Amino acid sequence: MKKLFVSDLMEKEGEFEDIFYIHSLKNSIGRRGEYVELIISDKTGDLKAYLFDKEIEIKEGIFKIKGEVGVHQDEKRVILKGISIIEITPDLKRELIKSSEIPRDELRRKILQKISIVQNTSLRKILENIFKGEFFEDFLEAPAAMKYHHAYIGGLAEHTINVCEIAVSLSNCYPSLNKDLLITGALLHDIGKVFSYKFDLKSEMTDEGKLLDHIYLGMKRIDEEIDKINSERDELFKSKFPEDLRLNLLHLIASHHGTKGQGALTEPLTKEAFVLYFADQLDAEMFKYEEAIKMTQEGERWSPYHTRLRKSVFIGGDIEDD
Ligand SMILES: [Fe+2]
Ligand SMILES: [Fe+2]
Repeated sequence: MKKLFVSDLMEKEGEFEDIFYIHSLKNSIGRRGEYVELIISDKTGDLKAYLFDKEIEIKEGIFKIKGEVGVHQDEKRVILKGISIIEITPDLKRELIKSSEIPRDELRRKILQKISIVQNTSLRKILENIFKGEFFEDFLEAPAAMKYHHAYIGGLAEHTINVCEIAVSLSNCYPSLNKDLLITGALLHDIGKVFSYKFDLKSEMTDEGKLLDHIYLGMKRIDEEIDKINSERDELFKSKFPEDLRLNLLHLIASHHGTKGQGALTEPLTKEAFVLYFADQLDAEMFKYEEAIKMTQEGERWSPYHTRLRKSVFIGGDIEDD
């Protein structure tokens, strides 16, 4: 079983041996001749590694690695000394895939709790129909992005819950907002990502995701469900899904990226759509600040430069009350 993680390597220097996922191999040439640049990962993070020894054959996959960890030009890095093949069990795989720190059942419970707040019968029905069975399990497994924010197993559910919490707080602040519509939009805004990403050791975009985008795929799934509700109209649910409600709900998904430049089909044209866009942005940005803080070594007053925030974050200074 794995004993040493990337988070441990960040704290130590010297030789080590343990199991990691090797990926993102890139052949390069430097002063010392040809070498391979790569990433070693496990559930705690990623670390840049280099292979200078031409005798060692390397490829993407899970391997036992012998290496040396050290600091080069202020950056932690690993020099690979040897790799060996090992048996890959499902338990081992779980140690290597980055996942949400929130347990899956807790994520499920939080989503179901948000659905239970919704009073509007049409919106409640569509949420209950979508968040069930295999789709719900896939949703709980999906990352929220390939690399920008919450790019790990369970990240989509985590992000969705946060967006929902922000939306609920804002609807308490602005009572004229339609809370049910906002919660429903928040829960459904990124469901298209379940169809957009393939996720295992490494997340990849599906052909559907690349060609059609999560906004379209999410809207399609919602519209299909509304059609189903309208065609069933069973004993318990006799009325049709109101057309204006359908338009409002689909608009939330269509506009949640804010501008066409950021991938939205249209800019927010309702109060609820503006609030959902804001909540989505806020959660994605907050994730980056948290990430910058996590990257910072103890005792430092500034985080390292965060490429997606395009700045370093100030975390020094004692601002706690005595
Ligand atoms: Fe999105
Ligand atoms: Fe989102």
